[in-house]
Amino acid sequence: MKKLILAFFAAASLAACKKSTTETPQQVEGLIKLSNKVSNTPYSPTNPLLKDANTDFEIGAAINEGKFGNALYTGLASSQYNSITAENQMKFANIQASQNVFTYGTNVTNFAKNNGINRVHGHAIMWYSGVPAWVTNAGGSATGETRKQIYRSILYNHINKVFSFYYTQKDANGNPLVKSWDVVNEAFNDDGTYRSNATNVWARELGAYDAIRLAFLYARQIADGLGDTNLKLFYNDYGHEYSNAKTDAIYNLVNTLKVITSNNKPIIDGVGLQMHTSNTRTVTGNTNSIYYGISKMSATGLLVHISELDIKLNGGTVADQDYRWYNIPKIYRDLVPSARRWGITLWNIGDSDNWQGTAAAATLYAPTTYAKKSAYTNFYKGLNE
Ligand code: XIL
Repeated sequence: MKKLILAFFAAASLAACKKSTTETPQQVEGLIKLSNKVSNTPYSPTNPLLKDANTDFEIGAAINEGKFGNALYTGLASSQYNSITAENQMKFANIQASQNVFTYGTNVTNFAKNNGINRVHGHAIMWYSGVPAWVTNAGGSATGETRKQIYRSILYNHINKVFSFYYTQKDANGNPLVKSWDVVNEAFNDDGTYRSNATNVWARELGAYDAIRLAFLYARQIADGLGDTNLKLFYNDYGHEYSNAKTDAIYNLVNTLKVITSNNKPIIDGVGLQMHTSNTRTVTGNTNSIYYGISKMSATGLLVHISELDIKLNGGTVADQDYRWYNIPKIYRDLVPSARRWGITLWNIGDSDNWQGTAAAATLYAPTTYAKKSAYTNFYKGLNE
């Protein structure tokens, strides 16, 4: 019993230390178990802002230009967050629907600029999904090296044009507004194998690993060539919180990429865990859990971004959701040293806007009214306490 009490106080004092970065895995595990509840402490701020709940890292939202007509939506998007991701506008298919015709949607970057938000996270360059038909068919009847060269040029040209354009968009301090990009998105299956050639055109044409390596290499070379030397390059995926095999595959991939350099600089800076999760995923423990995914990504030594967070109601209770809203930011703070926290980005604003549908109730705000749900309070506390 005495030991238990002592362990509690050790863990509690660690929890109180915002920037605690030196815990051993056992200590962290103990701390997680003890924080494994929804907080009962009173919720003090009268006009809380998520971006102020923990100033150690940014709190982002993915937003969609189609919603800008709703003042409740734009009011929250402009006030609560200090990082913005375009839900769709900066994806390959949206920017280059036809070969060499580039449509740089600026609604989202302008929204950030006009509202004094100084960080946009770019999403995404190489993705198996949303690839325009012209890319899929670009190889024609070419074979061998000629065919590979067609796809290498498409990739290089896309990154070059996109990075060059967004580099012209500056924040209030005159620095590039787009601070980071998901260079590669979702290259793995849940069992840790690469997506097949049948599903992923990039893997089909360039080889699963080589496609990824080339995307990061070109991205680094192009960014540095532009003088965009602080641009952070991320590998982004989902499923860390339920598939250890996938987490391990991602871990191995990024460990391979991080020792590849261009001009003495690693070609990758960070990993994104999308964390489209639900009230049934386990939070604690070392296997099959949110804890495992975050700790393994932290162990890469790279920047760690929770990049697309939403928590859907999957047959359970709101209390189960709230418990995760509270614990996910807590675990993130406990496992990722502050200097490597790229932040937590939520996937769109309210339940009416989230891609999982209104019934999934996967966000912080109620449908239509945008009233703050108990999810909001719990997420705020998980960031702050
Ligand atoms: C989703 C958007 O939310 C939808 O609006 C769109 O129809 C499809 O893409 N992983 C990602 C995101 O990396 O880009 C996806 O966004 C959600 C899953």
